[in-house]
This record gives sequence, structure tokens and C-alpha cells, in this order.
Amino acid sequence: MVRVNENYTLLQGSYLFSEVAKRVRMYQEKHPEKKIIRLGIGDVTQPLVPSVIRAFQQGVEEMARKETFRGYGPEQGYEFLREAIARVDFQERGISVSPDEIFISTGAKEDTANFQELFDTKISLAIPDPVYPVYVDSNVMAGRAGKLSHGRYTRFVYLDATLENDFKPALPKKRVDVVYLCFPNNPTGQVLTKEELKQWVEYAHRYGSLLLFDAAYEAFVEDPSIPKSIYEIDGAREVAVEFRSLSKTAGFTGTRCAYTIVPKEIKVRTKKGHTLSLHSLWFRRQSTKFNGVSYPVQRAAAAVFTPEGQKEIREVLNYYKENARRIRDAIVSLGLPCTGGVHSPYIWFKTPMDSWRFFDYLLENIQVVGTPGIGFGKNGDGYFRLSAFGDQSNVLEAIERLKTLSW
Ligand code: MLT
Repeated sequence: MVRVNENYTLLQGSYLFSEVAKRVRMYQEKHPEKKIIRLGIGDVTQPLVPSVIRAFQQGVEEMARKETFRGYGPEQGYEFLREAIARVDFQERGISVSPDEIFISTGAKEDTANFQELFDTKISLAIPDPVYPVYVDSNVMAGRAGKLSHGRYTRFVYLDATLENDFKPALPKKRVDVVYLCFPNNPTGQVLTKEELKQWVEYAHRYGSLLLFDAAYEAFVEDPSIPKSIYEIDGAREVAVEFRSLSKTAGFTGTRCAYTIVPKEIKVRTKKGHTLSLHSLWFRRQSTKFNGVSYPVQRAAAAVFTPEGQKEIREVLNYYKENARRIRDAIVSLGLPCTGGVHSPYIWFKTPMDSWRFFDYLLENIQVVGTPGIGFGKNGDGYFRLSAFGDQSNVLEAIERLKTLSW
């Protein structure tokens, strides 16, 4: 028999959202008559907007004709899409990012999971707790985690996000090589001000660290004093990679299209001290292991950045934001301390029992599915996350059902 990658044996249980789906499936099989409302995984429910659909269809039409058919695309993604992103997401907002610093991909999940491959297995890592589990698991698989002890890996530096610090982790006390940050945060929904994010950029400069900044939820930010991009902070281009996605911004969870920005200034070094460009390394990695997003999907994605596309996605985003506001109000009225729901599609709250018990309690009593906080890390125990991506009528029904609870 073939020997496995031993690191996989260090992973905890199954992937969070697979476990949630399994429990819901089992419940539904036992109770086929019950209507379950799913506010667990952050999966969108509203269709792609009309201008995106039209561009998607045109892309498919082009693939059907010999004169316009396309095979493999450029490794980093089509220029038309990268230019549109650079202009609309960054340059028009006074942020310097050029199209050749943008890498189109099938998802921020993939990119945040894959990016660690560029680094030595011995580097030190700071990972928030609670956290999107992909950052943790991908580093465990790569052999960077050490041993599992009391629910934590011995080699990670954990950045505690708790009620006490308003879910804004403090800077690590010592130097770490790579820091994972996600704002607006998944799962807590918390955001940082420019001043707060600046401290992370300064930390990275002081210690020669790299920040991996997940901005997948930037479209939910409404207040201009809250950065949507880490590149709004001076000096970030030298120390930060940013991950963005159309999944939550424009309903692409099933269609798949995301992008990662790797500024050309970022340098990394070899053991012997030779300096390399991180951008060149990521280009090398992607061109070897990835063959791009399909042409029709990139055409559809480009339509998001047209004035019409922007107007249409804003309407859908407002729909989800209204859901978020209502869920947050309902949780507040239940007297449960919570964060998120503003500038974020996630509402994170303290539960009157442990996370999985609360999950089962909601499923059995009111058939509402959320995500147990413990699945995002040790600090998540006793917390729960609800997502605002549901259909509005379902969200309203879930709120009514929540109001019937007592403990
Ligand atoms: C979540 O629910 O945390 C996200 O939908 C997961 C993801 O984007 O992969």
C-alpha cells in the first residue's frame, strides 16, 4: 500500500461545511415533511444579474463559432477582465493596482489554500481564531502545523478574536513570517478601521512579514472610513497580497471567478539569501498547476465591472444587506451578544449552550441551519454564525421561528 501524506492525519474531523451538510441531510431524511431554512454556508440564493447573464451567453455564442472560438486563455486571465478589475475596484478609487498584478482564478478558497505553497514549511504563521478553516487546513496539509493539542496546533501563533477584544485580534507579541487576515471577517463579521489596519501594515514592515489579506466580503462595506482593500493603506503594496472574489459580490459561488492581487514590489528570499519576486513565483505556480477560468465565465465576470453591472449587483447586495440587518436585529432582541450584520453578511453571536448543541437545538426545534462557531476554531465555541445570503422570505420566516425560542 502507498504511504499517505502523514499531515492529512492531523486534520480535525471533516471539513466544517461538509459536516453541517451531512447533519442537515440526515435530519431531512428522518423528517421529510419539515421545511429547513439554510442560513449556514455563505452561499448566495439570488440569480446572476441580467448584464452578467447576457455577457455569459455571448461568451458561449462566441465559443460556438469557428471565427470566435477560444482555446486556452492567458495564464493570468484575459486582459479585458484584469483591466476592468484594476480600473473599477482600484484605480477609480485612487488605489494603485495594475492589470498585470491581478491573477484570475476559480475562487478565493482555492487561492487562499494554494498560496502557502510558495513558502518554506518551516515559516511561522499567525492565524486568527476564529477563522475561515481553509487557512488552517491548507497549512496542516502542507506540514506547517506541528501537533494538535487541546484543539490547537502547536506551531501556529493564534490571534485571539474574542468578545473581550471586540473580535479584533491584537498584533502578535513576536515576529511571524506570514499573517492571515480577513476583513470584513469571516466568521465574526467584524471590520477594521483604516487606523487599525495600518497597524498590521506597520507590523509587517517592522518584521519583514507578509500579510495574506482576504477581502472576499469587501462589497458589504458601506462606511468609507472602513477599508475595502488593504492597498488603501500606505506601504501595503510591499507587504500584502489581497484575495478577492465574485462569489458573494456578484453571485458567482456556482459560476466560479475570483482574483488575487500580488503587487510586484513584494520580495521573498531563498535560504541562501537570494531575493525573488513573489509575483513571479505565483505566476510560475499558477501557470504550472492551473489552466484558467473559462472564457464565458471571464466574459460574465467582466460585465460585473460595467456601469450597468455595478448598478445591478448593488441592488442584489442591498437585498442581502437588508437580510443581515434584520437577522442582527432579531439576535439583539433575543438578548444575545453579537457582532457583524453591518458591513458584513455574517452575524456572529454568543449562544446559550455549546455550538454543536445549539446547532442541533435549532435544527430540531425550528429547522433553521446555521454554522457552529467551534468549526471556526476554539474561540468559536459557544458562538454561532448565521448567513444573510438566504432568500428574503426564508430569512423572515427564520426570524419568526427564532422569536419562538426560549432557553
Ligand atoms: C462560508 O460560509 O464561510 C463561505 O461560504 C465558505 C466559502 O466561501 O468557501
